[in-house]
Amino acid sequence: MIHRGTMSKLFKNCFKTCFKTLSSLDWRFVALLLTVLALLAALIAPLLAPVSPSSEAGTTATLASYDSTIRPLPLALKTNPALVRLGKQLYFEKRLSADDSLSCHDCHDLKRGGADGRIVGKGIRGALGDRNVPTVFNAPFNFLQFWDGRSRTLEDQAAMPIVEADEMGSSWPQVLEKLGRDPGYRERFNTLFSDGITPANITRALAEFERTLITPNAPFDRFLRGDEQALSVQARQGWQIFQTRGCVACHQGINIGGNLFQKIGVMARQDALSTDPGRFAVTGREEDRHVFKVPSLRNVGVTAPYFHNGSVATLEEAVRIMGRVQLGVTLDDTEITSLAAFLHSLTGQYREPSP
Ligand code: HEC
Ligand code: HEC
Repeated sequence: MIHRGTMSKLFKNCFKTCFKTLSSLDWRFVALLLTVLALLAALIAPLLAPVSPSSEAGTTATLASYDSTIRPLPLALKTNPALVRLGKQLYFEKRLSADDSLSCHDCHDLKRGGADGRIVGKGIRGALGDRNVPTVFNAPFNFLQFWDGRSRTLEDQAAMPIVEADEMGSSWPQVLEKLGRDPGYRERFNTLFSDGITPANITRALAEFERTLITPNAPFDRFLRGDEQALSVQARQGWQIFQTRGCVACHQGINIGGNLFQKIGVMARQDALSTDPGRFAVTGREEDRHVFKVPSLRNVGVTAPYFHNGSVATLEEAVRIMGRVQLGVTLDDTEITSLAAFLHSLTGQYREPSP
């Protein structure tokens, strides 16, 4: 065992030696070395960094959020359990809607892949929206929320359906009044927040619950971790085609999508997909017309129908269309079947947080 006094002596000696070595170096030489290194780094970096397809479309994707590496989902995200419990209660809370008929869960059903299986969303009093309901699963890994990326954070996003006329159709005064009448909510909010029930605290709790809505351990994730057998031969072929045909240029990153904007119809126009202005409605820039967030393909096997307007019923048909309109190729039936097998291997496992 080393005595404490000996330890501190050792430290002092080491410090002295380090200091001497540093001061004996010629600082001009060090400066020169640093400059050369910086120049080298500047030259090499662009060669290493993948080119973002979004920059071609001239959209507003920031390079900072751009990470193309396809990698397994983490098993869990760090969350505050008390906030998650409150968020879960709110997620199933029909009083967030104007007529107490609709909760987040009614459109984003956790047993239906986090979506609703409908062509477009169905709000209060049967109001139909104009877009397909995306899954809530793995939303924390999207760089922006919504098909057109108009929302930056989960907190910001959660406020929108509550007051959207053709979704929950409510208003904040109404929501605060209804929840405020419930002693259970009053107590939970007052324990967690100094300012009690507020719009910001409601969306904070909802977003915290959403951070538990992740689906790790998909067969493909296990394959990425080294378990070759986790994928069937056909799914492995599909993964090859996904890379060689270039699907991966757009569907990439940890969510296999959700990190870029791209135009729908890069190579060919698909009339059914060309009425929604997409990102243009957010930025007003002509080059953003029909540009959408590239959707995550995680759990895509269980979230039919497909595309921003839900116009395509089957995964095979969605893949065929992708080949034609995004890549300018005609995929044959074997390729489509293999790609579909690969996409089915992206269905992960959701584990409910313990109560
Ligand atoms: C009436 C059905 C409906 C209800 C209720 C609803 N949503 Fe949605 N949600 C949608 C639709 C439709 C979209 C896509 C809209 C768009 O992109 O323009 C969406 C988008 C989202 C997204 C973005 C996902 C992505 O990949 O971009 C999240 C997250 C989300 N909703 C969470 C919630 C939460 C939380 C609630 C409750 C406060 C909620 N939703 C209530 C229909 C609904
Ligand atoms: C140039 C970029 C790009 C390429 C390449 C691309 N996609 Fe897509 N993909 C998109 C965009 C953008 C959407 C959303 C389009 C929409 O909803 O209008 C999409 C949507 C999808 C969907 C529907 C997802 C959903 O939840 O509705 C599937 C499935 C899909 N792509 C698979 C593929 C496959 C397989 C390939 C390769 C054969 C591929 N994509 C190539 C950009 C691309």
